[in-house]
Amino acid sequence: MKKLTLLGSTGSIGLNTLDVVREFPQKFRIEALSCRSSIEQLAEQVKEFQPSLVCVDSSEQAGELRDTFPDTEFVWGVDGLSRISSDPDIDLVVSGIVGAAGLKPTYSAVEAGKTVAVANKEPLVMAGKLFMQTATKSGAKLLPADSEHNAIFQALHNEPPERIARLILTASGGSLRDHPLEDFEHITPAQALDHPNWDMGSKITIDSATMMNKGLEIIEAHWLFNTPVQNIEVVMHRESIIHSMVEFVDGSFLAQMGLPDMRVPLAHCLGWPERLPLKIPRLDPLSLNALHFEEIDPQRFPCLTTSIKAARQGGGAPAVLNGANEEAVDAFLQEEISYLDISKTLHSVMSKYDQITSLPESPSFLKDINTIEGAEQADQWGREQARNFMA
Ligand SMILES: NC(=O)c1ccc[n+]([C@@H]2O[C@H](COP(=O)([O-])OP(=O)(O)OC[C@H]3O[C@@H](n4cnc5c(N)ncnc54)[C@H](OP(=O)(O)O)[C@@H]3O)[C@@H](O)[C@H]2O)c1
Repeated sequence: MKKLTLLGSTGSIGLNTLDVVREFPQKFRIEALSCRSSIEQLAEQVKEFQPSLVCVDSSEQAGELRDTFPDTEFVWGVDGLSRISSDPDIDLVVSGIVGAAGLKPTYSAVEAGKTVAVANKEPLVMAGKLFMQTATKSGAKLLPADSEHNAIFQALHNEPPERIARLILTASGGSLRDHPLEDFEHITPAQALDHPNWDMGSKITIDSATMMNKGLEIIEAHWLFNTPVQNIEVVMHRESIIHSMVEFVDGSFLAQMGLPDMRVPLAHCLGWPERLPLKIPRLDPLSLNALHFEEIDPQRFPCLTTSIKAARQGGGAPAVLNGANEEAVDAFLQEEISYLDISKTLHSVMSKYDQITSLPESPSFLKDINTIEGAEQADQWGREQARNFMA
């Protein structure tokens, strides 16, 4: 019986994880859950899974839930999240919070030497070097739950990095892949949120539309698979059947395929190193007329170009970019800026980053990230520059 902490249990990753757990009650026990504001949904989950620990956003929320569930311990805030991800009783932490908010709790799990199913990509983008170094020291195992990285993990099958010629991340193209470019200035949040293949939270769905998501995934893959950024490529693949592929030095390609269903990579992480007999709709190869691969159009997806540059720069650039992107996506969802303003904001923030880091007296957290505090400072700097530009 594996004991699980599920960070972000009310989100898309959280709900898919609970679906897998429901199917294998003899294999998994939900020991801890967390959410920020979806308290009613969380209460239903507490009733069903009876975790011993739950983390919410505030002490008031914790107090109210304590009255209803006297046998559960309720904690709150960032310290509470770190507590539930490092609890000695936990075997596996599913990191499913969205954005930089997952940085500290995911890091606590890694510091505590846990096996971590990593869906929340932003912490690795912000502080990948630190995460990998800490995992080596603590013995933590990072299992990629993002479908692309899980595909690569499966295709690699423990082959060492020197055998990798290229990692090829596939991209569906998101909600705006065929939208006329001349209408981009009028795109509404509802249009950008209408993803053709995947049902996900709003932040990642906007990141898929701008293809910032693929940029974040390049950085994530760089750290998880110890592969130089220049050996990681992106191709558009509309069907989302091949979830990514590895080209090895001998010219062999290994790809992982399946219907787009996050329960598959999540179950792979939960069951690892075993495979779980998951009851899900299966891919019928005979139903596939063709699989298509296309080059990415940089005019349609300028955020990908900006993020590849930040990935190559390394240091504090990815954390700055990530913070700026979170601010810009949030502002777009609140209808405070237009869709095109997202890429303009990121471009402006990264130009400022280049300017500042070319000066000898620029802050050390912009040049390199060696601590969680440094990652937070770079994130805050990126957010502040983005807010200034958007204002
Ligand atoms: N969804 C997917 O299929 C998918 C695939 C690959 C990777 N990922 C990655 O997985 C992560 C989660 O994505 P998602 O689509 O599941 O997001 P989501 O549906 O928006 O869910 C986010 C979860 O995090 C919680 N949360 C949000 N802000 C928080 C904060 N400040 N402090 C504590 N908890 C907070 C939310 O709680 P409330 O409900 O209370 O707000 C919710 O439980 C992202 O990093 C994403 O890039 C997702």
